[in-house]
Order: sequence, then structure tokens, then C-alpha cells
Amino acid sequence: MKYIISGTNRPGARSLQISELIQKIYSENGEQVEIIDLAVLPYHELNGQQYGGGLHEKWAEAVGKVNQADALIFVVPEYNGSAPGALKYFIDHWKYPESFEHRPVCYVGLGGIFGGLRAVEHLQQVMGYRNAFQYPLRVFLMNIFKTLKDGKLEDAVALQLLKDQVAGFKKFVAGLQSQAIDANSLLARK
Ligand SMILES: Cc1cc2nc3c(=O)[nH]c(=O)nc-3n(C[C@H](O)[C@H](O)[C@H](O)COP(=O)(O)O)c2cc1C
Repeated sequence: MKYIISGTNRPGARSLQISELIQKIYSENGEQVEIIDLAVLPYHELNGQQYGGGLHEKWAEAVGKVNQADALIFVVPEYNGSAPGALKYFIDHWKYPESFEHRPVCYVGLGGIFGGLRAVEHLQQVMGYRNAFQYPLRVFLMNIFKTLKDGKLEDAVALQLLKDQVAGFKKFVAGLQSQAIDANSLLARK
């Protein structure tokens, strides 16, 4: 199972709408994928004692999904020139190497005129440092305030780029799996 991570806990987030749109594109391509929505995780359960273990069940469940994901699709809004703290806080409760190493990941950014470029690139540093397999073709959704209406993306070029990313990422993940060098293949051999 691939998981889309809706990268903020902001209620009413556009990231969740984009995540649902991407989920629909996967479905149209014959693949069911699930969304991990940070907005439903109980952030109030985190008080600094949970790094490395002892997570509340909802958190353990979300991290467990990451740890057995065939691949992760990050939907990342730009907050103050970077990715949201809520997303980094989620990631900081993952396990190394299980959650990260050789896990195939791809990125969709959203924001103003830069379409979440900085947010995605900061996240790429994190995932690169932790040895994820990063799909190079990223999608940046610019001026998201104007282009997203009632869950519909009114930007034909951006929509096509999302479709292209889905098709390409499916092949990328399948290629890694076929050589048994993806995260789950490595974990199965341990
Ligand atoms: C706390 C916060 C900071 C933001 N900072 C930026 C920014 O630095 N650059 C930008 O292009 N947009 C910025 N925005 C606008 C968001 O990218 C835009 O509202 C987007 O819809 C946020 O994603 P969300 O709806 O999933 O929360 C910011 C929004 C919030 C809530």
C-alpha cells in the first residue's frame, strides 16, 4: 500500500483536498492508496517523552503505516518558507532506519508563487539524509488559493503534471521492487 501524507494538521487544509485528488488519480490508474491525515492525529498526546517509543495508539498506527508503506507521497504546503512544523514533528517520531531507509518517496508542494518549492526542498534534505529513494519529478502547485476550488484543481497544466507524476512514480516504485532494493524488500531480508 502506498500512503499519501497530507502534510499539515491545519483544519480545512488544502493539502487534504490535494491528497484526495491524488488518491482519485491513483484510483483511476487502478491502484488504491490511503491518506495519512495529520489533522486527525492527537498532537496534544505528544509532550516530548515519546521520542523513540511509547507513542499513543493513533500515533503508533500512523508510524506503523509509514514503516510498511510500499511508498510515500508527501503533499507539502509551504509555511514560512519551509514545510509545516507538524509534518517535521510527525517525522521526528518515525524510526530509523525502518521508516526511512530506501523507502520510495515523491513530493507535491503547494503554496503561493513558488508552489511550495522551499517546503519540498527542505523536506528533501531530511529524507535524503535518511537515505530514502526520492523520485526526482516533483510537482509544485502555485497560487493554490486561486486554483483550488471545492476540491477541484482549475489549472489544467498542474493537473496533468500530477497525473504524469502518478504514472511515473508507479513505475519508479515497481522498478525498485523488481530489484528488491526498496525499503520493504530490505526489511524482509533482515
Ligand atoms: C502558517 C502559514 C504560513 C504560510 N507561509 C507561507 C509561505 O511562506 N509561502 C507561501 O507561499 N505560502 C505560505 N502560506 C500559505 C499556504 O501555503 C497556503 O495557505 C496553503 O493553502 C497552505 O496549505 P494548507 O491549506 O494545506 O494549510 C502560509 C500559510 C500558513 C497557514
